[in-house]
Amino acid sequence: MSTNILKGKRGIIFGALNSQSIAWKVAERAHEEGATFVLTNAPIAMRMGEIKTLAEKTNSEIIPADATNLEDLDNLVTKSVERLGGKIDFVLHSIGMSPNVRKGKKYTENDYRYYMQTMDVSAISFHKTLATCMKHDALSEWGSVIALSYIAAQRIFPDYNDMADAKSLLESIARSFGYHYGIKKKVRINTISQSPTVTTAGQGIKGFKEFINFSEQMSPLGNAPALACADYCIALFSDLTKYVTMQNLFHDGGFATTGVTQKVIEQFGDE
Ligand code: NAI
Repeated sequence: MSTNILKGKRGIIFGALNSQSIAWKVAERAHEEGATFVLTNAPIAMRMGEIKTLAEKTNSEIIPADATNLEDLDNLVTKSVERLGGKIDFVLHSIGMSPNVRKGKKYTENDYRYYMQTMDVSAISFHKTLATCMKHDALSEWGSVIALSYIAAQRIFPDYNDMADAKSLLESIARSFGYHYGIKKKVRINTISQSPTVTTAGQGIKGFKEFINFSEQMSPLGNAPALACADYCIALFSDLTKYVTMQNLFHDGGFATTGVTQKVIEQFGDE
């Protein structure tokens, strides 16, 4: 359902890889709600080609950028302002990748070169994006920036590996930059801590299927689907949430504040 809540707003959406991606759903919803935006992803993801379908569907331009590369970000931000015809009102950072997870390295035996890459791609890229936007004064007053996080930033989920450390850093960057950008330009910056969701990045985590079932049973409302996450992003990009900033917002069906549910406890009955 469209209410044109983002009519006239301009955005940059990072991280749409395929139709399962959370960013893909955000792009579809933002288009339905009247926004115009640039789609971006790492050049390697571009070669897979699927993003072109999304660009056609949403009538948007693709500008490739490796989010860890400052030159790419400079080009992305300046060209986006130029092509969209004005300052940017919203940014979605929907990026995550851990070479340690990919290569099956245990947390206690992480390769530190990989570890640095995890931090750079999954967290520091958010700082770099915000710093680039600030340098070019590319964001509108009351603009809204969101990055996607996961509850492993606060609690231990062993197989989430070094991504947990990256998410903690990501959430901290949202608070710190949220302060500075808030004072300077009234830009709001938040993270959304999303339920486990079946996507390419999600499926990279060991034991993901079991884990998603556990999470479903531990959440009074069930796991939040990707489309519902997209709706939440739209709400936060809109003018109806102007004073929400520097928050980590759980979008998880109640998982974060549930100690146990009846469904789970019943699995531990008399032997
Ligand atoms: P996805 O695999 O569809 O998206 C990850 C994106 O990161 C891809 O588009 C990939 O190309 C991009 N990326 C990787 N390296 C990059 C780089 N150097 N520069 C630019 N882009 C780069 O998976 P998903 O699940 O949609 O992930 C989006 C975000 O949501 C990530 O931050 C992820 O950690 C987060 N998240 C995912 C959950 C899940 O269970 N799927 C749960 C909670 C948060």
